Amino acid sequence: MMTNKSSLNVHSFLKMKEAGTKITMVTAYDASMARCVEASEVDMILVGDSLGMVVLGYPNTLKVTVDDIVYHSAAVRRGAPNTFVVSDLPYMSYHLSLEEAQANAAELVIQGNCDAVKLEGGSHRRIEAVRAILDCEIPVCGHIGLTPQSVNKFGGFKIQGKTKEAHAELIRQALALEEAGVFMLVLEGIPEGLGREISQELKIPTIGIGAGRFTDGQVLVYHDLLGHSTLMPKFVKSYATLDEEITGALKHYHHEVRQGLFPGVEHVYFPVEE
Ligand code: KIV
Repeated sequence: MMTNKSSLNVHSFLKMKEAGTKITMVTAYDASMARCVEASEVDMILVGDSLGMVVLGYPNTLKVTVDDIVYHSAAVRRGAPNTFVVSDLPYMSYHLSLEEAQANAAELVIQGNCDAVKLEGGSHRRIEAVRAILDCEIPVCGHIGLTPQSVNKFGGFKIQGKTKEAHAELIRQALALEEAGVFMLVLEGIPEGLGREISQELKIPTIGIGAGRFTDGQVLVYHDLLGHSTLMPKFVKSYATLDEEITGALKHYHHEVRQGLFPGVEHVYFPVEE
């Protein structure tokens, strides 16, 4: 029974910004990851559609479905009953109609048991989707800059906001999203100066990933943070080397079974006399 939800809520993050307390967020995709995040005191979890890449092995996030996010969000909630969880609305789950956007957001909250949803982009249509979802009493987190669901439009995972026009457009989008009512805004893959400017302009907190040092908080993908990933962009800092640790442990296990060293007598039930 998930009765013990976080004491943090959408208002807490605003207060943290006002107090100058940096906000921490990390992705998680299953109960064991979520359990570790909850034990770490990281402020919130994102069930990101990055799961398509780091868990399901796709080259981008476009194939992730609402059912995938529901399945993984529910697992995350079971592992982290007390942590604020934001779940991603996947590609094409909020583009076709406002009703569909509302129904899919509600599915993530009701079946996935998350506290809020996130969607990408700041165009007029996206702002309408934000308003429609908020109308269902569901908190929405925005996400602009290098939005992975636009990978084909951008011609790859490319830093955004580099020209004067693109810089101005991202500031316009950030202000429009705040005005529409998002409680937080993820800024991804933009120059540091733009990350700082948006963070200073907005009252709501900004969470950066590859957006420099001056956003109100940071988010990293779990696998990148732990060194359990094959691709390490410039903005990632790995705080562990899990890939090496895991492969080393698996090799050790393989060797011990081959050599007859595992299982030992201490691992068996009613050992036979030799
Ligand atoms: O899907 C994800 O993990 C994200 C973060 C990179 C912000 O959207």
